[in-house]
Amino acid sequence: MSSKSLQQARNYEKIYGGKIGEEERPLFHVSPKIGWMNDPNGFSWYQGEYHLFYQYHLFNTSWGPMYWGHVRTKDFVQWEWLPTALAPDTEYDNAGCFSGSAMELPDGRHMLMYTGVQEWKREDGYTESRQVQCVAFGDGADYEKYEKNPILTQADLPEGGSAEDFRDPKIWRDEKENRYYAVIGNRPADGSGSILLFSSEDTLHWEFVTVLDNCKNQYGKMWECPDFFILDNVAVILTSPQEMRARGMEFHNGNGTIYITGNYDPETHRFDRTEVRAIDYGLDFYAPQTVLTPDGRRIMIGWMQSWETSHSQPHGSKWFGMMTIPRELHIINGRLIQNPVRELERYRSEPVLYRDVDVRERIQLPQVCGRSLDMTVRVRPAGEKLYENFTIKVAKDTENYTAISYTPGSSILRFDRSNSGFRHDIIASREVLVRNQSGELSLRIIMDRFSVEIFANNGEQAISSTIYTPQDAASISFEANGMAIMDVEKYDIVIPRKQDTNPE
Ligand code: FRU
Repeated sequence: MSSKSLQQARNYEKIYGGKIGEEERPLFHVSPKIGWMNDPNGFSWYQGEYHLFYQYHLFNTSWGPMYWGHVRTKDFVQWEWLPTALAPDTEYDNAGCFSGSAMELPDGRHMLMYTGVQEWKREDGYTESRQVQCVAFGDGADYEKYEKNPILTQADLPEGGSAEDFRDPKIWRDEKENRYYAVIGNRPADGSGSILLFSSEDTLHWEFVTVLDNCKNQYGKMWECPDFFILDNVAVILTSPQEMRARGMEFHNGNGTIYITGNYDPETHRFDRTEVRAIDYGLDFYAPQTVLTPDGRRIMIGWMQSWETSHSQPHGSKWFGMMTIPRELHIINGRLIQNPVRELERYRSEPVLYRDVDVRERIQLPQVCGRSLDMTVRVRPAGEKLYENFTIKVAKDTENYTAISYTPGSSILRFDRSNSGFRHDIIASREVLVRNQSGELSLRIIMDRFSVEIFANNGEQAISSTIYTPQDAASISFEANGMAIMDVEKYDIVIPRKQDTNPE
């Protein structure tokens, strides 16, 4: 049954979503049909396609009562919008359908598991709220909320757990055990964050298993949007802590993202940490979620935005918030390695190759320019003497540029978007320590109109950021203090226009 709120949302996005020109949006990154988008939700493989949902407030470009927007794709590059999937239209989710996940059930139904936020006013005027877990079932287009929702409430929490911060279920099925599991973020009595593990035989009746990991006030406070999987024989938790404290160049203040590697015993469900590190070192990355593809790849997508700067929007924008390029994950030498999905390579066109280019003063290379591109730059010293630094400026014209610079002496890679179209005084730069390789560095740079994603040293580090530079600022320059040598491999990313592939 489709509620009035859902109908209204579907009508609204149909009328106004279509009014946004294709060139006003990213070319191959997911953006909302209209209005505001945050976290990726329900990233899943369903009947031959990948589905992705997103936190959606379509009526303006600010966060508000959450709906679930919906897109699908065959290859993580060309996405198609589907009508809004969930609306906050019941008593248990009247204040929002918060983040969650999805999976295909053995009987062919698509199941969504999400957090319902319920708010009510007390007699004294104070607004109370609680978060519960809910499910909905559908066919990849329309979803019906389960009549006995919620399926997990305060009553299911371990002692000291918080009913106000109990959210973001990530579900999976353990084929060997023939059971479902879900990790859910919560706040224990110390006010920080924890990840609770629940299990179920049928997706409707759940029991608490254990606290998989606890923040203990070490890595921020509330741990949002947990994910848990085994990757290359290592147990990996992803989570997005609120209220992080900066720590060197590893973590920055505010909302951050971390991965925790460890050992997991499936018998006792005990997880023992090995290492905790940042997932992405850029300015805009939050709430990532993964999907396992039929060919066994673990693919992660994140919200390419930070909460702290989400008020900084281009004047008059009709949409706001976008996703990262989906990334293939691996664990190599205990570290999370991420690279753009290989499917992106199918959309490379106009190859431009330069080898052994001497870089001293600023240079530009013929045909190396653009705003939707996939470019790899490999730099190394010319002879014995190390260059002092090496800078690439992209999205450049006489007024604007976005700078990526490397100082091999300190192994610091710096990203700076101070001149990238922002009209607010926002955080504009970040520094990250890359592996010291005596001045050798490889950077794969993915640009898509309003974003720059950098993958350093074959995915050892990712740096994701939005930019709002006018689109005609499309030059690229290279310069070095001292002498450096570089190779450049650059492709335009070209997506066939929607009208060509999918006439309506
Ligand atoms: C993370 C988050 C989630 C929550 C959602 C609400 O960005 O705060 O914890 O479910 O956003 O939109």
